[in-house]
Amino acid sequence: MEAESSPVISVVPDDEQNQKFKKSKNVAFYRRQIQGPNKQHRALLDTMVLTERGARFELLETDSQSRLLLSVWPCKNDTVRILIDELQPIKARYRVPDVITEEPQREQLRVERQSKDSVTLTWSSGRHRVRVWRSPFRLEILCEDEVTVTFNSKGKLWFETLRDPTRATSQGSKLQEEHTSLLWKETFRQFVDIKANGPSSVGLDLCFHGFSHVYGLPEHADGLQLRDTRDGEPYRLYNLDVFAYELYSRLGLYGSVPLLVAHKPDTTLGVFCLNASETFVNVHYSPSEHQDDQTPPVKRRRTQPQTDVHWLSESGVIDCAVLLGPDPQQLFSQYAQLTGYQALPPLFSLGYHQCRWNYIDEADVKAVDAGFDRHDIPYDVIWLDIEHTDGKRYFTWDPALFPEPANLQRHLEEKKRKLVVISDPHIKVDPDWSLYCEARDGGHFVKQREGQIYQGSCWPGESSYLDFSSPDTRAWYSRCFHLDKYKGSTPSLFVWNDMNEPSVFGGPEQTMPKDVVHYGGWEHRELHNLYGFYQHMATAEGLITRSGGSERPFVLSRSFFAGSQRFGAVWTGDNVASWEYLKISIPMLLSLSVAGVAFCGADVGGFFRDPEPELLVRWYQAAALQPFFRGHSANMTKRREPWLFGEEVTAAIRTVIQQRYSLLPYWYTLFHQAHTCGLPPLRPLWVEFQREQSTFTVDHQYMIGGALLACPVTERGVEEVRVLLPGSGEVWYDVHSAKAYKGGGTLSLPVTLDTVPVFQRGGSVVCRAAGSCSCAADVQQLPLSITVALNSQGAADGELYLDDGHSFSYRDRKAFCHRRFNMLSGRLLCRPAGEEGMFECDTVVQSVSVLGVKRKPSSVVVHVSEAKDTSAAFQYVDTCCVLTVSNLNLRVTMDWEIHITG
Ligand code: NOJ
Repeated sequence: MEAESSPVISVVPDDEQNQKFKKSKNVAFYRRQIQGPNKQHRALLDTMVLTERGARFELLETDSQSRLLLSVWPCKNDTVRILIDELQPIKARYRVPDVITEEPQREQLRVERQSKDSVTLTWSSGRHRVRVWRSPFRLEILCEDEVTVTFNSKGKLWFETLRDPTRATSQGSKLQEEHTSLLWKETFRQFVDIKANGPSSVGLDLCFHGFSHVYGLPEHADGLQLRDTRDGEPYRLYNLDVFAYELYSRLGLYGSVPLLVAHKPDTTLGVFCLNASETFVNVHYSPSEHQDDQTPPVKRRRTQPQTDVHWLSESGVIDCAVLLGPDPQQLFSQYAQLTGYQALPPLFSLGYHQCRWNYIDEADVKAVDAGFDRHDIPYDVIWLDIEHTDGKRYFTWDPALFPEPANLQRHLEEKKRKLVVISDPHIKVDPDWSLYCEARDGGHFVKQREGQIYQGSCWPGESSYLDFSSPDTRAWYSRCFHLDKYKGSTPSLFVWNDMNEPSVFGGPEQTMPKDVVHYGGWEHRELHNLYGFYQHMATAEGLITRSGGSERPFVLSRSFFAGSQRFGAVWTGDNVASWEYLKISIPMLLSLSVAGVAFCGADVGGFFRDPEPELLVRWYQAAALQPFFRGHSANMTKRREPWLFGEEVTAAIRTVIQQRYSLLPYWYTLFHQAHTCGLPPLRPLWVEFQREQSTFTVDHQYMIGGALLACPVTERGVEEVRVLLPGSGEVWYDVHSAKAYKGGGTLSLPVTLDTVPVFQRGGSVVCRAAGSCSCAADVQQLPLSITVALNSQGAADGELYLDDGHSFSYRDRKAFCHRRFNMLSGRLLCRPAGEEGMFECDTVVQSVSVLGVKRKPSSVVVHVSEAKDTSAAFQYVDTCCVLTVSNLNLRVTMDWEIHITG
């Protein structure tokens, strides 16, 4: 193996990034809240009103005497919503629209106990209560009589009520005036932000009692467990285009999901704070145990651990949903009920994607496509970056390089492969371009404060930015994807939304000024974190409507917000070809998964710089075991199609891509689960092993669904990896050797360049496609092989979901097949998994391998409903206790059983 190494370096000088992006100390509303004294709030209990919509109270800020309105309502799915707004605002404050999909039915509250100091409310579930304390105001959520979450436990509730700008500047002393003007205007470097509504920030603190692990709040280039922020910066949620982002940093990256998940052995809770303006979150863990070495262990003082979380947002209202779990599965379901389920991806999009900035021309695309066939490497999609356009005008093609784009797509489509093209939110200012004129004349651009169309710079030079927060603009943009409008496009073209934080070259922090104006007159500051979400929404809608509503879209977006999972996939932006970036990709994807954005991936090989071959192989191995699997590289890097590094590298990459395709039936089933239950395919270990403390901090290995544990190699030159195999009663099988290991310890596994440590959990069933393929559509024609991994009781269970892989027929006509495989006492049953679908398919199960069979059986008999029982040929390998029954040819849509005797 060639060992040309690329050093681990910070590619953008720290100084430059440090200067371009704000630290919390540069942000006025953060300083005001952190440095200012706490504001005292009192709950006016006698103002309480109980209706079928919940409870309402007035809150009084004692200093300013301003009044807030607190609304609390529990919902049937064990969530509690808490909303705080001004009682009588001089104008409406921004409430984030379009993120909450459907509010679960509200519960009727009743008073359980009331005194002059507090009121306790309960509802039908009986397990939970809400208690509101008068002074100082606090709100507690109790579970089985124990307080689990307290709002305002540290008294940091903060609500800057809107003021009349004319009165604010005309009154008071010079000092007051100065102070007031600072509140209405903020400067960062050369950028001046004029705040039309003055200071309007909000803040709250909450305490998770008994918890010492919290997760979520993507996107940051950091570990999975959120860190205590006392030693540095708060987590920032502000969507930014950060090229070659600094690692282990809490600077906001391309997308934000304001969901924080707290976990302890018997409970998982979440708090979702729905606010799309710039947000900071501080996390303070309190020690779980005060250990004094002088004190004998029995006398050690135990204090209940707790995690305090302080949220601060620049604007909007306080709108929190507390998700009461109590286990991770319920929590994911509660969150999905609120913000939507992961879209079911078209099957092809779970295959391998080949991208580069840029594939030069049509001949280049065809040559790369042919390269995959020549090297027997399956793939599904080839991507075109910005250079495919005519002068960075999206929806056009460079006439010299891509003269026949539709033919190119047909060429790919003949092999059942797709083309993805980029479509960014900035539109070149070009009065000679009809699309620009349409957008301008239709009023589809973001405006400056003074009303003119805002212009900023991006790839095309001077550009204007579509205002995707407007439903009209979204509808117009969606129509731009229709086949008659988008010349050169065909139904096999799909879309990539980039630069949609939005990225503005030379703008403050390389984004849009906060004082530009959107639909409804809202300032950009109110909805900054929603910009990419809305473009993603409009693009997905465009692809759906271009097919008359029948086909599922595929859209990748760089920027995202809570709910973006409904529109497609996201990726982690401009990473670097270094081992450290490979390593961080795992916790970054786990954080996204925990926060509902389940279809996620990182650029394989690293976007910027050239990976050494060993790194490239390791990256393919890791990414083949992650949801969105795309190789991508920047324009200044060397070409890196999988066959350019010698046969050893090609073979290693081929193997893992082929394995990915074999596992597609399993991935697709997991995505169906995400789509219907909210459970992400990629799961931190603690999601599956909730009571095992040893898993709570693990973020270099993870579960793929409930059955497979992956521990990709992310270090150079290693000969051994240590893998935590959780669960003391569990059995784990190495998927390559079928060797069994006991759970509840750490395994030292020798590795070579070809080793990808993956283990199947005893008690699970995994379906794979058997045979070779060149793309995902081929996989649908292949028979299945089933691996049944027995647990210590000799039992196992698993599912398979199939449909046509591309349309909405599974939803509209129930054209799907959902089966359960259940093994107990030597009998493997294939039965419906629930509601029976009506999907005509010929897919057969060709072979079944059972791992962990202690003795060679005397017979294996197949029983198919009314037909006569037949004996099946089998092999038994006693060195690894594997029984394989082949040549079965059992239709997966039918009920059948396999009986293993002796
Ligand atoms: C930035 C994106 O992150 C990257 O993936 C893309 O190649 C470039 N923009 C050019 O479009």
